[in-house]
Amino acid sequence: MLADLRIVEAKLFTASGLQEGGVAVDEGKIVRVAREPNLPKADRTLNLSGKILLPGLIDAHVHLRDMELSYKEDFISGTAAAAAGGFTTVLDMPNTKPPTNSSERLREKIEVAKGKIMVNVGFYSSFPEDQTDYPSLSSSGMTAFKINLYKPSSKIDVDDRKTLLEAFKNVAKVDRPVAVHAEDRRMVEELQAGLRAAGRTRPLDFLSAHPSEAEEKSLAKVLDIVQYALCRTHFCHVSSHKCIAPIREAKRFLGVTCETTPHHLLLTKDMIVRKGGQAIIDPPLRTAEDNSRLMDAFIKGEVDIIGSDHSPHSLEEKGRENVWDIPPGFPGLETTLPLLFTKVSDGTIPLYRLMESLTSKPAEIFHLKGKGALMEGYDADLTAVDLKERFIVDPSEFRTKAKYSPFEGWRLIGRPFLTVVGGSVVYEDGEITAKPGQGAIVKAL
Ligand code: DOR
Ligand code: ZN
Ligand code: ZN
Repeated sequence: MLADLRIVEAKLFTASGLQEGGVAVDEGKIVRVAREPNLPKADRTLNLSGKILLPGLIDAHVHLRDMELSYKEDFISGTAAAAAGGFTTVLDMPNTKPPTNSSERLREKIEVAKGKIMVNVGFYSSFPEDQTDYPSLSSSGMTAFKINLYKPSSKIDVDDRKTLLEAFKNVAKVDRPVAVHAEDRRMVEELQAGLRAAGRTRPLDFLSAHPSEAEEKSLAKVLDIVQYALCRTHFCHVSSHKCIAPIREAKRFLGVTCETTPHHLLLTKDMIVRKGGQAIIDPPLRTAEDNSRLMDAFIKGEVDIIGSDHSPHSLEEKGRENVWDIPPGFPGLETTLPLLFTKVSDGTIPLYRLMESLTSKPAEIFHLKGKGALMEGYDADLTAVDLKERFIVDPSEFRTKAKYSPFEGWRLIGRPFLTVVGGSVVYEDGEITAKPGQGAIVKAL
């Protein structure tokens, strides 16, 4: 047998830990994991000289934008950023223009994405306005639902418990997870109105409008609904440490999971003072206590996964004078893995926990078949990392259109140098080698 590709002399991250060996890949699948003498010959052989080979990383929280928001990011630039960051599968958020909130809109978006994506992409849909659209949405290939309780992307009354319960029950019927941005809309809007009326327009005022209490209150409301709807529920970007205990409790009897982000683990509101609009994201950067308690919960596995919440905006938008004119969000695909690997190397995060949170756990939560492990029969999505090379975060080198980062200037290790998607090399030594359209649309089971 002549395989398509062999990667040899690697340190493989497998379910049983790190082991020396290589992989052979054929027709998009991993066909053999073994030491070199036992690998079949292949058209191309890459020698990793002892560097580490991981299952392709999965980022379940990415805003790829495109369409009318292509000036911020499009499917080409966003998936190039994913490939350069070592992510072989990303799940795209629905708050686009137009929003993904019906089976028709989803099909249109998939058509646009097909010819452009360079890594695998799955799609979220907002709750549809038409309550009969749930089955058609899930059969059109949507991976999960998303509800932003502060800023919904469809016209549903998120403050009405009955409406929300009905929507969550409809989600349960089609057996897809719902990902939640938990923030109490009324509380945030009232606080914001008060701050605006008082003439407060500075970056830190954003934090005053988006306090932890808004997240905690919204989380409690959703957990109450989940008890009745019994749908799988995933809390996005947990930023307040006070959310950890109720989530831990709910996990005992409900299908609840959660995510945090590199910035909520590593940055505090001081960064808002230093970087202004460029460090504004929602939920906002909070306190050192939130950082350390979220890190503890992440290490214990109470926080299941890491999502980058890659949310690109233009530099002009991020540089506006008045905080209420600045859209929240910053890019994350190209910093997430090195930021976390650097915390592995300083002894904070165990390697297996980091790997699980970026590979097998998101695959499990979002039912991504054939993904998340370096095993025979799995999809040939792979990421190679050089743990010796140190580099300095330089946003001008990013592939995303959003060329800024609160992590600018940080000295990190763990930059990926090789990304393989479906058996094809899409990124190698700083170059994108993929053709647009080479990535696959990911459909959940
Ligand atoms: O900071 C954020 N950016 N939070 C959100 O909820 C939306 C996101 C975006 O789309 O830019
Ligand atoms: Zn969000
Ligand atoms: Zn987001």
